[in-house]
Amino acid sequence: MKILLLGRGGQVGWELQRSLAVLGDLVALDFDSAANPDGLCGDFSNLAGLAESVRRVAPDVIVNAAAHTAVDKAESEPELARTLNALAPGVLADEARRLGAWLVHYSTDYVFDGSGNQPWTEDEAKAPLSVYGQTKLEGELAVARCPRHLTFRTSWVYAARGGNFAKTMLRLAGERDALTVIDDQIGAPTSAEMLADVTAHALRAAMDRPELAGVYHCVAGGETSWHAYACFVLAQARALGWTLKAGPDQVAPIKTASYPTPARRPLNSRLLTAKLQSAFKLQLPHWQVHAARMLHEITPHKAP
Ligand SMILES: NC(=O)c1ccc[n+]([C@@H]2O[C@H](COP(=O)([O-])OP(=O)(O)OC[C@H]3O[C@@H](n4cnc5c(N)ncnc54)[C@H](OP(=O)(O)O)[C@@H]3O)[C@@H](O)[C@H]2O)c1
Repeated sequence: MKILLLGRGGQVGWELQRSLAVLGDLVALDFDSAANPDGLCGDFSNLAGLAESVRRVAPDVIVNAAAHTAVDKAESEPELARTLNALAPGVLADEARRLGAWLVHYSTDYVFDGSGNQPWTEDEAKAPLSVYGQTKLEGELAVARCPRHLTFRTSWVYAARGGNFAKTMLRLAGERDALTVIDDQIGAPTSAEMLADVTAHALRAAMDRPELAGVYHCVAGGETSWHAYACFVLAQARALGWTLKAGPDQVAPIKTASYPTPARRPLNSRLLTAKLQSAFKLQLPHWQVHAARMLHEITPHKAP
Protein backbone atom coordinates (compact mmCIF):
# COMPACT_ATOMS: atom_id res chain seq x y z
CA MET A 1 0.00 0.00 0.00
CA LYS A 2 1.29 3.45 -0.97
CA ILE A 3 0.54 6.38 1.35
CA LEU A 4 1.03 10.04 0.48
CA LEU A 5 1.36 12.31 3.52
CA LEU A 6 1.06 16.09 3.14
CA GLY A 7 2.26 18.50 5.83
CA ARG A 8 4.90 16.22 7.29
CA GLY A 9 6.54 19.05 9.30
CA GLY A 10 3.51 19.98 11.43
CA GLN A 11 2.63 18.67 14.89
CA VAL A 12 0.31 15.96 13.57
CA GLY A 13 2.28 15.41 10.34
CA TRP A 14 5.43 14.65 12.29
CA GLU A 15 3.72 11.98 14.40
CA LEU A 16 1.99 10.52 11.34
CA GLN A 17 5.37 9.79 9.77
CA ARG A 18 5.89 7.30 12.61
CA SER A 19 2.38 5.82 12.82
CA LEU A 20 1.77 5.44 9.06
CA ALA A 21 5.17 3.95 8.23
CA VAL A 22 4.07 0.52 9.51
CA LEU A 23 1.06 0.45 7.14
CA GLY A 24 2.91 0.65 3.82
CA ASP A 25 5.26 2.70 1.64
CA LEU A 26 5.15 6.26 2.85
CA VAL A 27 5.89 9.31 0.68
CA ALA A 28 5.91 12.26 3.09
CA LEU A 29 5.94 15.79 1.66
CA ASP A 30 6.95 19.11 3.13
CA PHE A 31 5.65 22.34 1.64
CA ASP A 32 9.15 23.16 0.43
CA SER A 33 9.57 21.14 -2.78
CA ALA A 34 13.36 21.27 -2.52
CA ALA A 35 13.10 19.03 0.58
CA ASN A 36 10.84 16.46 -1.13
CA PRO A 37 11.65 13.23 -2.98
CA ASP A 38 11.87 13.93 -6.76
CA GLY A 39 11.08 17.59 -6.05
CA LEU A 40 7.39 16.74 -5.60
CA CYS A 41 5.21 19.74 -4.82
CA GLY A 42 3.64 19.76 -1.36
CA ASP A 43 2.78 23.46 -1.36
CA PHE A 44 -0.96 23.96 -0.87
CA SER A 45 -0.85 27.39 -2.47
CA ASN A 46 0.12 25.67 -5.76
CA LEU A 47 -3.05 23.73 -6.58
CA ALA A 48 -1.87 22.51 -9.99
CA GLY A 49 1.44 21.35 -8.53
CA LEU A 50 -0.40 19.54 -5.76
CA ALA A 51 -2.66 17.68 -8.22
CA GLU A 52 0.41 16.76 -10.27
CA SER A 53 2.12 15.31 -7.17
CA VAL A 54 -0.85 13.07 -6.42
CA ARG A 55 -0.89 11.85 -10.02
CA ARG A 56 2.82 11.09 -9.98
CA VAL A 57 2.69 9.20 -6.68
CA ALA A 58 -0.67 7.48 -7.41
CA PRO A 59 -1.24 6.56 -3.76
CA ASP A 60 -3.81 4.21 -2.24
CA VAL A 61 -4.18 6.62 0.68
CA ILE A 62 -3.68 10.39 1.01
CA VAL A 63 -3.30 11.82 4.51
CA ASN A 64 -3.57 15.59 4.78
CA ALA A 65 -1.96 17.11 7.87
CA ALA A 66 -1.23 20.51 6.25
CA ALA A 67 -3.39 23.54 6.98
CA HIS A 68 -3.43 27.27 7.67
CA THR A 69 -3.59 26.97 11.48
CA ALA A 70 -2.72 30.55 12.49
CA VAL A 71 -6.24 31.35 13.69
CA ASP A 72 -5.80 35.10 14.31
CA LYS A 73 -3.68 35.66 11.20
CA ALA A 74 -6.34 34.01 9.05
CA GLU A 75 -8.68 36.95 9.78
CA SER A 76 -6.42 39.25 7.76
CA GLU A 77 -5.56 36.72 5.00
CA PRO A 78 -8.86 34.93 4.28
CA GLU A 79 -7.98 34.06 0.68
CA LEU A 80 -4.78 32.27 1.66
CA ALA A 81 -6.64 30.49 4.48
CA ARG A 82 -9.35 29.42 2.00
CA THR A 83 -6.77 28.14 -0.50
CA LEU A 84 -4.93 26.08 2.13
CA ASN A 85 -7.91 24.90 4.18
CA ALA A 86 -10.58 24.41 1.51
CA LEU A 87 -9.35 24.55 -2.10
CA ALA A 88 -6.26 22.36 -1.64
CA PRO A 89 -8.18 19.64 0.29
CA GLY A 90 -10.73 19.82 -2.56
CA VAL A 91 -7.95 19.09 -5.06
CA LEU A 92 -6.84 16.14 -2.93
CA ALA A 93 -10.45 14.89 -2.75
CA ASP A 94 -10.93 15.04 -6.52
CA GLU A 95 -7.62 13.30 -7.19
CA ALA A 96 -8.32 10.65 -4.54
CA ARG A 97 -11.76 9.97 -5.97
CA ARG A 98 -10.29 9.57 -9.45
CA LEU A 99 -7.76 7.04 -8.07
CA GLY A 100 -10.28 5.23 -5.85
CA ALA A 101 -8.00 6.15 -2.94
CA TRP A 102 -8.77 6.98 0.69
CA LEU A 103 -8.38 10.56 1.91
CA VAL A 104 -7.73 11.30 5.58
CA HIS A 105 -8.23 14.88 6.73
CA TYR A 106 -8.34 16.86 10.01
CA SER A 107 -10.81 19.51 11.02
CA THR A 108 -11.66 21.47 14.12
CA ASP A 109 -14.10 22.28 16.92
CA TYR A 110 -14.03 25.83 15.46
CA VAL A 111 -16.67 24.78 12.90
CA PHE A 112 -19.18 25.13 15.79
CA ASP A 113 -20.27 28.39 17.42
CA GLY A 114 -19.42 27.21 20.93
CA SER A 115 -22.87 27.80 22.40
CA GLY A 116 -24.31 25.69 25.23
CA ASN A 117 -22.41 23.35 27.49
CA GLN A 118 -23.06 19.92 25.95
CA PRO A 119 -20.53 18.05 23.81
CA TRP A 120 -21.15 18.56 20.08
CA THR A 121 -22.07 15.54 17.97
CA GLU A 122 -20.74 15.25 14.42
CA ASP A 123 -23.97 16.30 12.66
CA GLU A 124 -24.99 19.29 14.75
CA ALA A 125 -25.40 22.67 13.05
CA LYS A 126 -22.15 24.36 12.07
CA ALA A 127 -21.73 28.11 12.57
CA PRO A 128 -18.04 29.08 12.58
CA LEU A 129 -17.07 32.30 14.36
CA SER A 130 -13.83 32.87 12.46
CA VAL A 131 -12.22 32.73 9.02
CA TYR A 132 -10.22 29.71 10.18
CA GLY A 133 -13.41 27.89 11.28
CA GLN A 134 -15.28 28.87 8.10
CA THR A 135 -12.49 27.74 5.76
CA LYS A 136 -12.01 24.48 7.70
CA LEU A 137 -15.76 23.83 7.33
CA GLU A 138 -15.48 24.45 3.57
CA GLY A 139 -12.56 22.00 3.59
CA GLU A 140 -14.69 19.32 5.28
CA LEU A 141 -17.34 19.69 2.58
CA ALA A 142 -14.71 19.53 -0.17
CA VAL A 143 -13.13 16.40 1.31
CA ALA A 144 -16.56 14.72 1.32
CA ARG A 145 -16.45 14.80 -2.51
CA CYS A 146 -14.21 11.75 -2.13
CA PRO A 147 -16.46 8.89 -1.02
CA ARG A 148 -13.61 7.16 0.81
CA HIS A 149 -12.76 9.86 3.31
CA LEU A 150 -12.07 9.96 7.02
CA THR A 151 -12.27 13.43 8.56
CA PHE A 152 -11.20 13.72 12.19
CA ARG A 153 -12.42 16.84 13.98
CA THR A 154 -10.12 17.58 16.87
CA SER A 155 -9.22 20.38 19.31
CA TRP A 156 -6.40 22.03 21.28
CA VAL A 157 -3.62 19.99 19.62
CA TYR A 158 -0.15 19.81 21.16
CA ALA A 159 3.03 17.80 20.63
CA ALA A 160 6.55 17.62 21.96
CA ARG A 161 7.66 19.09 18.62
CA GLY A 162 6.36 22.45 17.42
CA GLY A 163 4.80 25.37 19.23
CA ASN A 164 1.67 25.07 21.35
CA PHE A 165 -0.14 26.44 24.40
CA ALA A 166 1.62 24.22 26.98
CA LYS A 167 5.06 25.31 25.76
CA THR A 168 4.00 28.96 25.73
CA MET A 169 2.86 28.63 29.36
CA LEU A 170 6.20 27.11 30.35
CA ARG A 171 8.09 29.90 28.64
CA LEU A 172 5.97 32.66 30.17
CA ALA A 173 6.10 31.07 33.64
CA GLY A 174 9.90 31.06 33.36
CA GLU A 175 9.92 34.78 32.58
CA ARG A 176 7.06 36.26 34.67
CA ASP A 177 5.94 36.18 38.29
CA ALA A 178 2.25 35.93 37.38
CA LEU A 179 0.10 34.89 34.41
CA THR A 180 -3.52 35.39 33.38
CA VAL A 181 -5.28 32.63 31.44
CA ILE A 182 -8.82 32.28 30.08
CA ASP A 183 -11.09 30.05 32.13
CA ASP A 184 -14.38 30.15 30.21
CA GLN A 185 -13.37 28.19 27.09
CA ILE A 186 -13.82 24.47 27.69
CA GLY A 187 -12.34 21.65 25.62
CA ALA A 188 -9.90 18.77 25.61
CA PRO A 189 -6.16 19.13 24.93
CA THR A 190 -5.36 16.42 22.40
CA SER A 191 -1.94 15.05 21.61
CA ALA A 192 -0.70 14.78 18.04
CA GLU A 193 0.69 11.38 19.02
CA MET A 194 -2.78 10.10 19.94
CA LEU A 195 -4.28 11.53 16.75
CA ALA A 196 -1.62 9.82 14.66
CA ASP A 197 -2.13 6.48 16.40
CA VAL A 198 -5.92 6.68 16.03
CA THR A 199 -5.50 7.60 12.36
CA ALA A 200 -3.42 4.51 11.61
CA HIS A 201 -5.81 2.26 13.51
CA ALA A 202 -8.93 3.72 11.87
CA LEU A 203 -7.39 3.64 8.41
CA ARG A 204 -6.52 -0.02 8.76
CA ALA A 205 -10.12 -0.81 9.77
CA ALA A 206 -11.71 1.39 7.09
CA MET A 207 -9.67 -0.11 4.23
CA ASP A 208 -11.66 -3.34 4.71
CA ARG A 209 -14.93 -1.60 5.54
CA PRO A 210 -15.64 1.39 3.25
CA GLU A 211 -18.93 1.99 5.06
CA LEU A 212 -16.82 3.47 7.89
CA ALA A 213 -16.06 6.54 5.76
CA GLY A 214 -17.23 9.82 7.28
CA VAL A 215 -16.61 12.53 9.87
CA TYR A 216 -15.52 11.61 13.41
CA HIS A 217 -14.78 13.62 16.52
CA CYS A 218 -11.36 12.66 17.85
CA VAL A 219 -10.26 14.31 21.10
CA ALA A 220 -8.79 13.02 24.35
CA GLY A 221 -11.10 12.12 27.24
CA GLY A 222 -12.24 14.52 29.95
CA GLU A 223 -12.51 18.29 29.67
CA THR A 224 -10.78 21.35 31.05
CA SER A 225 -10.37 25.10 30.63
CA TRP A 226 -7.23 26.79 29.33
CA HIS A 227 -6.71 28.05 32.89
CA ALA A 228 -6.89 24.60 34.50
CA TYR A 229 -4.74 23.19 31.68
CA ALA A 230 -2.09 25.84 32.35
CA CYS A 231 -2.14 25.04 36.09
CA PHE A 232 -1.74 21.33 35.32
CA VAL A 233 1.22 22.00 33.03
CA LEU A 234 3.01 24.22 35.57
CA ALA A 235 2.39 21.82 38.47
CA GLN A 236 3.70 18.87 36.47
CA ALA A 237 6.69 20.85 35.26
CA ARG A 238 7.64 21.91 38.79
CA ALA A 239 7.39 18.28 39.92
CA LEU A 240 9.75 17.39 37.08
CA GLY A 241 12.31 19.93 38.33
CA TRP A 242 11.63 22.93 36.09
CA THR A 243 12.62 26.28 37.58
CA LEU A 244 9.62 28.55 37.10
CA LYS A 245 8.94 32.03 38.45
CA ALA A 246 5.18 31.43 38.34
CA GLY A 247 3.55 28.23 39.58
CA PRO A 248 -0.12 27.19 39.44
CA ASP A 249 -1.00 29.54 42.31
CA GLN A 250 0.20 32.53 40.31
CA VAL A 251 -2.11 31.85 37.35
CA ALA A 252 -5.16 34.10 37.54
CA PRO A 253 -8.33 33.19 35.64
CA ILE A 254 -9.77 35.72 33.19
CA LYS A 255 -12.79 35.73 30.88
CA THR A 256 -12.60 35.57 27.09
CA ALA A 257 -14.39 38.92 26.93
CA SER A 258 -11.49 40.64 28.67
CA TYR A 259 -8.91 39.18 26.27
CA PRO A 260 -9.92 40.37 22.77
CA THR A 261 -8.27 38.64 19.79
CA PRO A 262 -8.73 39.16 16.02
CA ALA A 263 -10.55 35.80 15.71
CA ARG A 264 -13.50 34.87 17.94
CA ARG A 265 -13.15 31.47 19.58
CA PRO A 266 -15.90 29.07 20.73
CA LEU A 267 -16.54 28.87 24.47
CA ASN A 268 -17.86 25.32 24.29
CA SER A 269 -15.36 23.16 22.40
CA ARG A 270 -16.53 19.86 23.89
CA LEU A 271 -16.68 17.16 21.18
CA LEU A 272 -18.51 13.88 21.71
CA THR A 273 -16.34 10.95 20.61
CA ALA A 274 -18.88 8.11 21.02
CA LYS A 275 -19.13 7.58 17.23
CA LEU A 276 -15.36 7.12 16.82
CA GLN A 277 -15.00 4.89 19.87
CA SER A 278 -17.83 2.63 18.80
CA ALA A 279 -17.01 2.45 15.05
CA PHE A 280 -13.34 1.63 15.63
CA LYS A 281 -13.61 -0.14 19.01
CA LEU A 282 -11.35 2.37 20.72
CA GLN A 283 -11.01 3.88 24.16
CA LEU A 284 -9.51 7.34 24.20
CA PRO A 285 -7.24 8.21 27.15
CA HIS A 286 -7.90 11.13 29.53
CA TRP A 287 -6.18 14.30 28.29
CA GLN A 288 -3.84 14.41 31.30
CA VAL A 289 -2.20 11.09 30.33
CA HIS A 290 -0.59 12.33 27.12
CA ALA A 291 -0.08 15.88 28.44
CA ALA A 292 2.02 14.47 31.29
CA ARG A 293 3.95 12.31 28.82
CA MET A 294 4.69 15.28 26.59
CA LEU A 295 6.02 17.23 29.58
CA HIS A 296 8.34 14.33 30.46
CA GLU A 297 9.55 14.28 26.88
CA ILE A 298 10.41 17.99 26.74
CA THR A 299 11.97 18.15 30.20
CA PRO A 300 15.66 18.90 29.72
CA HIS A 301 17.84 15.96 30.63
CA LYS A 302 19.63 16.41 33.96
CA ALA A 303 23.15 15.05 34.45
CA PRO A 304 23.21 12.45 37.26
N1 LIG B 1 -3.34 22.92 16.34
C1 LIG B 1 -4.57 22.80 16.85
O1 LIG B 1 -4.83 23.18 18.00
C2 LIG B 1 -5.67 22.18 16.03
C3 LIG B 1 -6.97 22.12 16.57
C4 LIG B 1 -7.98 21.54 15.81
C5 LIG B 1 -7.72 21.04 14.56
N2 LIG B 1 -6.47 21.12 14.04
C6 LIG B 1 -6.23 20.61 12.68
O2 LIG B 1 -5.31 19.54 12.75
C7 LIG B 1 -4.50 19.51 11.58
C8 LIG B 1 -3.03 19.46 11.96
O3 LIG B 1 -2.74 20.61 12.75
P1 LIG B 1 -1.33 20.82 13.47
O4 LIG B 1 -1.59 21.20 14.88
O5 LIG B 1 -0.41 19.68 13.18
O6 LIG B 1 -0.87 22.13 12.68
P2 LIG B 1 0.58 22.69 12.39
O7 LIG B 1 1.56 22.16 13.37
O8 LIG B 1 0.43 24.16 12.23
O9 LIG B 1 0.90 22.02 10.99
C9 LIG B 1 0.36 22.50 9.79
C10 LIG B 1 1.38 22.24 8.72
O10 LIG B 1 0.92 22.83 7.50
C11 LIG B 1 2.06 23.43 6.90
N3 LIG B 1 1.74 24.46 5.91
C12 LIG B 1 1.59 25.80 6.09
N4 LIG B 1 1.41 26.39 4.89
C13 LIG B 1 1.47 25.42 3.96
C14 LIG B 1 1.39 25.40 2.54
N5 LIG B 1 1.23 26.51 1.81
N6 LIG B 1 1.48 24.21 1.92
C15 LIG B 1 1.67 23.07 2.61
N7 LIG B 1 1.78 23.03 3.95
C16 LIG B 1 1.68 24.19 4.61
C17 LIG B 1 2.82 24.01 8.06
O11 LIG B 1 4.14 24.33 7.69
P3 LIG B 1 4.94 25.46 8.51
O12 LIG B 1 4.90 25.02 9.95
O13 LIG B 1 6.28 25.43 7.94
O14 LIG B 1 4.18 26.73 8.29
C18 LIG B 1 2.75 22.86 9.04
O15 LIG B 1 3.76 21.92 8.78
C19 LIG B 1 -4.92 20.73 10.76
O16 LIG B 1 -5.86 20.34 9.79
C20 LIG B 1 -5.58 21.63 11.76
O17 LIG B 1 -6.54 22.51 11.16
C21 LIG B 1 -5.43 21.66 14.76
